[in-house]
Amino acid sequence: MFNDLSSLPAYLASRRSGKPRDMIAPGPDSAQLDAILQLAMRTPDHGKLFPWRFVKITDRPAFGALLEQAFVSANPDSRPAQIEAVVAPAFMAPTLVALLYAPQASAKIPAWEQQLSVGAVGMNLLHAAHAHGFVASWITGWASYDPVVRTALCDGEEQISGFFYIGSPGQPLEERPRPDAADIIRSWP
Ligand SMILES: Cc1cc2nc3c(=O)[nH]c(=O)nc-3n(C[C@H](O)[C@H](O)[C@H](O)COP(=O)(O)O)c2cc1C
Repeated sequence: MFNDLSSLPAYLASRRSGKPRDMIAPGPDSAQLDAILQLAMRTPDHGKLFPWRFVKITDRPAFGALLEQAFVSANPDSRPAQIEAVVAPAFMAPTLVALLYAPQASAKIPAWEQQLSVGAVGMNLLHAAHAHGFVASWITGWASYDPVVRTALCDGEEQISGFFYIGSPGQPLEERPRPDAADIIRSWP
């Protein structure tokens, strides 16, 4: 069983992302999504800089058009089948939110620590969606690094940390390989 909500340790031991293409309704309603984002914001952040923000992507056809414009601009010779494939994610899952890295000028807190904080928000966003009974997925893909998409979603120095798809699993979740603790954990000295 994945995303077992019977206890916090049970959930953490069984946490699993969904695949956006398999996500179906229901997704979170407006109040649930706001609650999920509020939980995601309860994240470690050295200096209380809040170097992150969310963009709810509500108009999916407009987002699909943005992806198409961005892809064709970078790949002028793209074929219709390629365009169809790159636009498809715009329509996946009931709910789509972009997480932005919003670096703050600080003499004390390095950018690296601000990047760690936005990563923690991303992990927390997955947890928060799962805690509400949904399944979620963190996808960067090409669009997170595309200048046209970045300009549309971001201000100034902001960057796209990823797209978060939230919904209900339309297919059973499957385990993926996990690291062996013996390879990852060591003691010092
Ligand atoms: C920053 C980040 C970006 C990711 N981008 C992609 C992606 O573009 N495509 C993809 O298939 N998986 C991507 N993943 C991996 C999935 O989100 C997911 O973490 C992976 O399938 C492991 O599943 P789990 O969350 O159940 O451990 C990304 C993960 C992270 C942390």
